[in-house]
Amino acid sequence: MHFLFPFLQQIPVNQFLRYDIEPSSDVVRLLLDEGAAGDNSPPKRYRYSLAKRLVAQWERRGLEIPEEFYEKYAACLLESGSDSNDDVQTTVVSYFVTRETPIRSIEAPNLIAFNGGTGYRTWEAALVLVHYLHDRELDATRVLELGCGTGIIGISCALRARPPEQVVLTDIDGDVLAVCAKNIALNDVADVCTIQPYAWGEPLESPLDAPPFDLIVGADITYDPTLVPLLVRSLSLLLKNQNNKALIACTKRNPDTLKVFEDECAGQQLACTVLETTRYAGDLIWISDDAPDVVIYAITSV
Ligand SMILES: C[S@@+](CC[C@H](N)C(=O)[O-])C[C@H]1O[C@@H](n2cnc3c(N)ncnc32)[C@H](O)[C@@H]1O
Repeated sequence: MHFLFPFLQQIPVNQFLRYDIEPSSDVVRLLLDEGAAGDNSPPKRYRYSLAKRLVAQWERRGLEIPEEFYEKYAACLLESGSDSNDDVQTTVVSYFVTRETPIRSIEAPNLIAFNGGTGYRTWEAALVLVHYLHDRELDATRVLELGCGTGIIGISCALRARPPEQVVLTDIDGDVLAVCAKNIALNDVADVCTIQPYAWGEPLESPLDAPPFDLIVGADITYDPTLVPLLVRSLSLLLKNQNNKALIACTKRNPDTLKVFEDECAGQQLACTVLETTRYAGDLIWISDDAPDVVIYAITSV
């Protein structure tokens, strides 16, 4: 993979150091020159932290570091203190499904949870599902996303050449939905996407009750076995007696939890088929080699 895309995706610095990046490579120019990557440029604190660790790596490898790099590095060091210092340090991350159009997401990359919420970053399962959907016909007029977090699955649907008429992004967490709303604006898809608070297991009330959604999507929403019955209850409400389907991407952290999900689906008369088990999200999206596989399920009413 070209280093540019992991850089714009702001992958963890320690993961970047697994590659031998040469002082003369293109990404080093972008690293210290804020304007060079335009709107997609990572924030100063990320660029500085990567530059610092690269210098240490180059010194260890006995490489000659160009004078110009040191000058820019010093300037970057001085400026990096001026990044905002919010409780959750957010930044704009760019995910490239195609080379032309990134999906841009305001998020806290690498943050696992904040105030008990897990939706402040995009998880690998979402990236895998975005890639899976990109290669296929969507064939849906109305799309609903469950546990949307940053919302990039729904937003990616709205960015297609032939988008659905409506994409509704739902989550239980109002703060997460507020960030998702900013992502909708950032990607300029407010004509198609709306946000809606929704907790799994709750009855479907207006505007989620009618007409039915053709496609329901969700990623990394099966991690808590105590919530799985509620989630499956929602799937049952959304799919029952309909000619529609859900595509749910589940990170395979714990096989027992996936078994709970499969059993719960069977118990609620939902057919649950494994479409793919993979960690691949396309050549331009970086996913750590350490990340668990993702299982994509298709779920329909029996
Ligand atoms: C691990 S994050 C995944 C976010 C996003 N789908 C992704 O893959 O990047 C789980 C998301 O589910 C939401 N969530 C957790 N419990 C929920 C519930 N009971 N009802 C609705 N959403 C819930 C969280 O707020 C969070 O945004």
